[in-house]
Amino acid sequence: MSDTTASRHQSDTSTTATSDHRAHPSGDDRFELVDKHLRRVHYAQDQLIETLHVAQDVFGFLSEDLLLYVARALRLPPSMVYGVATFYHLFTFDPPGEHSCTVCTGTACYVKGADGIVAGVTEAYDVPSGRTSDDGRLTLKTARCLGSCGLAPVVVLDGTVLGHQDTASTLDRVAAALEGVG
Ligand code: FES
Repeated sequence: MSDTTASRHQSDTSTTATSDHRAHPSGDDRFELVDKHLRRVHYAQDQLIETLHVAQDVFGFLSEDLLLYVARALRLPPSMVYGVATFYHLFTFDPPGEHSCTVCTGTACYVKGADGIVAGVTEAYDVPSGRTSDDGRLTLKTARCLGSCGLAPVVVLDGTVLGHQDTASTLDRVAAALEGVG
């Protein structure tokens, strides 16, 4: 979304509140779903987190443009919206990769080396935590306790829970997944 679109959205706020079925001025009707939520919560600033959840549900991830859109709609500083979004691990800022690797960094996993696993995957695939590799093949995420502390350290690879992982075993599984044999 461009700045112009965001501005148009702001100036249209009073009229869109009564015309749910009009095409969104951005040309992307997904914004209309976000707008519907915003109208429902009366653009209340204390609905920021809920609004970010809705935006992520609709778009799949929070792009910079989308964060700016929410900031303008709620009349909040973009830096604050970005700060809140990055504070919570539930939000993601890139389109999801073909494969996803989530490393639990909760206390039980942390003391058993979860940070080393994160560092190992980051180094092997040049992808920082919370991001997707440049080739779009792997998204690396961390999570707070996944509720399987007895299996620590826990990694979730493409939806499969892997217990008692270390860096080497995780890298083996990630490589297998990327090669299509995992
Ligand atoms: S701390 Fe990792 S599963 Fe609980």
